[in-house]
Amino acid sequence: MKQYLVTGCAGFIGAKVAEKLLAQGQGVVGIDDLNDYYDPSLKEWRLRQLQSHDNFQFTRGDVRDRKTVEALYQSHHFDATFNLAARAGVRASVEDPWIYYQTNTEGTLNLLECSRQYGVNKFMLASTSSIYGMTDTPFSVSNRTDTPLSPYAASKKAAEAMAYSYHYLYGIDVFIPRYFTVYGPAGRPDMSYFNFILKIDKGLPIDVFGDGGQSRDFTFVDDVADATVRGLALRGYHIYNVGNDRPVELLKMIRLLEQLMEKEVKINFHDRHPADNLITWADLSETEKLLNWKPGTPLETGLRKVLEWYRENREWLSKIKISS
Ligand SMILES: NC(=O)c1ccc[n+]([C@@H]2O[C@H](COP(=O)([O-])OP(=O)(O)OC[C@H]3O[C@@H](n4cnc5c(N)ncnc54)[C@H](O)[C@@H]3O)[C@@H](O)[C@H]2O)c1
Repeated sequence: MKQYLVTGCAGFIGAKVAEKLLAQGQGVVGIDDLNDYYDPSLKEWRLRQLQSHDNFQFTRGDVRDRKTVEALYQSHHFDATFNLAARAGVRASVEDPWIYYQTNTEGTLNLLECSRQYGVNKFMLASTSSIYGMTDTPFSVSNRTDTPLSPYAASKKAAEAMAYSYHYLYGIDVFIPRYFTVYGPAGRPDMSYFNFILKIDKGLPIDVFGDGGQSRDFTFVDDVADATVRGLALRGYHIYNVGNDRPVELLKMIRLLEQLMEKEVKINFHDRHPADNLITWADLSETEKLLNWKPGTPLETGLRKVLEWYRENREWLSKIKISS
């Protein structure tokens, strides 16, 4: 049995990655600070699912704190680190860029440094399509990424570069999936599709920034966890896109929700935020070549699964704080 460290294990994607590793019979040590950037009851719910596995251990802690991180590497032998702990809101990063830099960049450095010190030779870093800014679509890994539109994207670019230095200097294998608008059951209530579901169900109007013509390459979380874990087979330093190659306009996604929830949606339009990309669209040629991976879930199928989970958990979800 291998043992993996998964940071941000109570997060939306981290929990899915941990679940996938546990389902393969591996051991997972998870760390998460369970902060309240969005309602922590979702993090607690995900954590409860993981805690039903014997091979899962949890530490509540902060990756910004070097001593906490070091204590983890001292007390376990890890075969790889999966770093999914992060502050992940594009617009929120404009309000408080410091916490984004400290968590996403310095937190990654703390983990890389411990990987070096304790001989953990594989490192996964969760990165983002936001890193492509306004460059040409579909976004290819060969696009320039030095013009990020937000401190969030900039903090991830810095983390990617730091991981390269550790690969170059110490031979650590590094794989970096760049995720494209991940959605799925038990997701993040600050993300559009889940925020909309919560509001539509309560008969509240939803907020759209811009004219709704912006497109997102919505990618289902199970596909994302699969593409992440497959990266373990890679040697060297690799960056690859994890998207759906099917960008969908926000308004189209809203109409789909309207249809699936059988409710009429009221929309309040607001000015577009300059930190938001107009379109995200993944070029998957590098991913297919490296991992023999393709996304398998069309948006409608994925949204049906989200709504199924939502209905099963509606009672407690109706009480969670809806992010604005
Ligand atoms: N969801 C997406 O569409 C998307 C897209 C691109 C990239 N990503 C990246 O994927 C990763 C996971 O994102 P997510 O959507 O699951 O977000 P999430 O917020 O649900 O998960 C992140 C987890 O990290 C934890 N965390 C934050 N700061 C921490 C700290 N200092 N110490 C310990 N734990 C901390 C949070 O409590 C949370 O549970 C992030 O790195 C994010 O940037 C996500």
